[in-house]
Amino acid sequence: MSRELIAEKLKDAMGLHAPTVGMVTVSSAIDRRMRACNITNSEKYLSLIITSPTEIDELIEEVIIPETWFFRENQPYEYILNYFQEQPPSKKINILSIPCSTGEEPYSIAMMLVDNDIHKSRYSIDAVDIAVKNIDKANIAQYRKNSFRSNDLRFVDKYFKKNNGLFSLTSDIKEKVNFHCENVLNDTFSLECKSYDIIFCRNLLIYFDEDTQSTMFSRLDKLLQPEGMLVLGHAETIQHANDRFVSAVGSKFYIYVKSSNLDKPLAEEHKKRTTDLLIQNSRQEHKKNIPRPFSASRETDKKERIVKSISPDGQLDVAFRLANKGDLDGAMSACNNYLSENRSSSRAYYLSGVIYDTQGSTDKANEFLNKAIYLDPNNLEALIHLSLLAEQSGNHDDAIKYKNRAQRVKERRTA
Ligand SMILES: C[S@@+](CC[C@H](N)C(=O)[O-])C[C@H]1O[C@@H](n2cnc3c(N)ncnc32)[C@H](O)[C@@H]1O
Repeated sequence: MSRELIAEKLKDAMGLHAPTVGMVTVSSAIDRRMRACNITNSEKYLSLIITSPTEIDELIEEVIIPETWFFRENQPYEYILNYFQEQPPSKKINILSIPCSTGEEPYSIAMMLVDNDIHKSRYSIDAVDIAVKNIDKANIAQYRKNSFRSNDLRFVDKYFKKNNGLFSLTSDIKEKVNFHCENVLNDTFSLECKSYDIIFCRNLLIYFDEDTQSTMFSRLDKLLQPEGMLVLGHAETIQHANDRFVSAVGSKFYIYVKSSNLDKPLAEEHKKRTTDLLIQNSRQEHKKNIPRPFSASRETDKKERIVKSISPDGQLDVAFRLANKGDLDGAMSACNNYLSENRSSSRAYYLSGVIYDTQGSTDKANEFLNKAIYLDPNNLEALIHLSLLAEQSGNHDDAIKYKNRAQRVKERRTA
């Protein structure tokens, strides 16, 4: 019972909804904090949370998912470039990345703007996260290979210096982003009441329940300029805020504009204009001098060289191959080895979950598959598998919930 109460305190503090992310995930964070505080009993830990002003922050740091990487999904970045082209050169464009985790998202925006010769006087980039350790890492801006997972890695040679397995971002990019450590759900959250033309709010809402999502949407509404744009994550929708925002490029997309300041014909016009721009862009993809996040016209051999030098090791692929051959013990042991070094690999948790399911350990399967989607809300295979497990155990509501999420991810992948 006390664990449920601790989970409620966590929700009050940061919005995280335990049933959505899985109680197992919350429980293991509680266990780690109890060990660190030398407490063996969860009731005592609940008392500590209530009496200590800092312990809830420690628990938040333990439970958050800092999972992110440079140029996570390309379309939003392409869209920003189009947006800059559309605006008069005299207009300053304020951009917000919220939550920014360890900085990869706002730094990607900065690299893209610098790469396309957009002068720094034309924009500002603010970035916010609740976790002090994330903001500290973002300010230091030294990354490991895990942060480089996009298909196009040509930016690495240009903006990073490699030393002892660490990739340090150059200072001309670092200085373009202002980081702030804030809880977006705090009433005091304001950032000097600046308002933004572009807000990236990706992979946060997915961990909130409906009420907290509503609070967050009204906050985003206040922060966004009347003609600004809001970018959500792949698996997120405005379903609890469709009175405030409309999809900018049709329902399969995750880029939105405000509805309150657009009358119907204007909203439609915006939609059409944006669609036209994207179509035009995809037709011109291979033409020269089209500003794109790291234009496809640059040398491929260089790309391959970089990809090779930093792509993750093949231990997990070995685990998948063993599983496919039916060697489940071998696959599990390879997977465990991989997980001991890569605690945030959604793919590895997915594989462990599937192996547990095959071995008949349904609870473990659910636990690991839930971890997989906690780490990566777009892990389609894990969502589908969870929906099957829910169906098998007669939990039709959950089965439909996972199926719908999987469907949304699928649609957006093909959009
Ligand atoms: C999965 S990361 C998303 C990073 C990035 N937007 C992306 O999509 O790659 C989620 C981040 O949300 C942050 N976070 C969770 N609750 C928050 C809150 N209430 N206020 C600010 N940041 C929060 C966590 O610290 C974590 O770094």
